[in-house]
Amino acid sequence: MEKTVSEAIAYRRSCRVYKDEPIDSNKVKRCIENAVLAPTSSNLQLWEFYHITNKDVLKHLSVACLNQSAAKTAQQLVVVVVRKDLWRKHVKANLNYIDQTYSKPTLSEQDIRRKKMAINYYKKIIPTIYADFLGILGILKYSIFQIIGLFRPIYRQARLSDMRIVAHKSAALAAQNFMISMAAIGYDTCPMEGSDTLRIKKILNLPRGAEINMVIGCGIRDDKGIYGSRFRVPFKDVYTLIK
Ligand SMILES: Cc1cc2nc3c(=O)[nH]c(=O)nc-3n(C[C@H](O)[C@H](O)[C@H](O)COP(=O)(O)O)c2cc1C
Repeated sequence: MEKTVSEAIAYRRSCRVYKDEPIDSNKVKRCIENAVLAPTSSNLQLWEFYHITNKDVLKHLSVACLNQSAAKTAQQLVVVVVRKDLWRKHVKANLNYIDQTYSKPTLSEQDIRRKKMAINYYKKIIPTIYADFLGILGILKYSIFQIIGLFRPIYRQARLSDMRIVAHKSAALAAQNFMISMAAIGYDTCPMEGSDTLRIKKILNLPRGAEINMVIGCGIRDDKGIYGSRFRVPFKDVYTLIK
């Protein structure tokens, strides 16, 4: 039986040593299917998930993960990839979805308004934010937004670095969905950013525009797999209630 959300969150730990025991790749795939249900900025879903079960590729990837035992002992690896470069394609997918959703010949006033707003969002606002050329357009937009922002609230994250953060943020939420889903079925994971991302891209044959968000080791925890009890800074230091 699957754990509850709270049980899965409590069970999940970063596992650095896995048992030499295979895990079911179909179950891992189902957890990746849960990953893509994560919220994503503008529903652009600028992510991809590489699920590696091939022993040779696993070996190459664990070297690229700097020989960390969380990678070396993993039965399978999942690489979360950010594809900010696919924004135009995914804008089109969203526009197609909007067309299908509002395809009835007779639409209510509210539906007409919603359709118009959604189309405007994907045809005008998203390209305004995402279109860039070597980061130059981004800086220009950012400066303009700062000036407008003196007079009214405005979205300010328009630089290349801002857009990378936006895309990585969504990918990391998907990664967390994946890890919690794995924990729910008693599988273990370890997110890793300690890696040579250029080598990982080469091993996976990824295009230049792709970025590695994290590599996630997967398996079943060994008795020595969890390094100590969970440490968190006091909750009161990170929690602020504004009444
Ligand atoms: C983005 C990210 C990158 C991480 N990279 C590594 C890593 O390269 N190697 C590693 O052993 N752990 C890595 N961790 C795991 C953290 O060290 C771990 O989450 C933290 O110590 C808290 O422990 P817990 O996950 O068991 O609660 C990473 C975690 C995150 C969120």
